[in-house]
Amino acid sequence: MSDIRNIVVLTGAGISAESGVPTFRGPDGLWEGQRVEDVATPEAYARNPDLVLDFYDQRRAKLGTVEPNPAHEALGRLDREWSGELLIVTQNVDDLHERGGARRLLHMHGELKSGWCMACGDRFPFSGKMANRPACLSCGEQGKVRPDIVWFGEMPYKMDRIDAALATCDLFVSIGTSGAVYPAAGFVQTARYSGAHTLEMNLDPSEGSIFFHESRMGKAGELVPLWVEGLLG
Ligand code: APR
Repeated sequence: MSDIRNIVVLTGAGISAESGVPTFRGPDGLWEGQRVEDVATPEAYARNPDLVLDFYDQRRAKLGTVEPNPAHEALGRLDREWSGELLIVTQNVDDLHERGGARRLLHMHGELKSGWCMACGDRFPFSGKMANRPACLSCGEQGKVRPDIVWFGEMPYKMDRIDAALATCDLFVSIGTSGAVYPAAGFVQTARYSGAHTLEMNLDPSEGSIFFHESRMGKAGELVPLWVEGLLG
């Protein structure tokens, strides 16, 4: 482990669970009792924009009521103190990594606090309600702002940078993700193929658990600070 320089960390909904942000799958998950096709596809948005905008408006509003937990804080510490390469890739659309101090961070599935104008193509920070059909902050066009979220069937963001980091990492760490959604679910195999050590931290084994060299089962808020302490300490 002493020859580790380049680290890629992948996070999923499980890292925010202890902050009170619901995960997607499993009991009480966001997809429990809700069809993904109704709220998280471009087709759903075209068919029933009010339903889709309201779904994301509610999740955006919820961010004002939650705080980063020790797992986010530990990754913030890692970002500050790790002198080698680091890329934290999150599938999460919340802002808890930023608020936990992470800077070398990519949101591959977009961000709740970002709007995307379908008229001019610009993206900009957004904190209100899209159901109110706000005007674009760049071009002023009314009613063309959609959530800057990667829906099913759309291409995740920043894949070139992510692939480049995976190709050169010595350590790949996956935290709080079920491994049900590609391409993120395939990162472990890409990293392994590049010769990286692979570590999973999750409440229970993910769908891709067998691909990891090492699995630690438990709560992210407990496991991640211990891991970071071990790495930096
Ligand atoms: N600590 C660690 N892991 C946890 C915790 C916790 N406190 N609580 C839950 N988990 C684990 C669950 O066991 C599960 O394996 O986190 C995982 C969450 O899985 P999902 O709900 O499927 O979330 P995620 O993997 O991020 O989903 C991927 O699917 O719907 C899309 O775009 C959405 O980005 C999302 C993608």
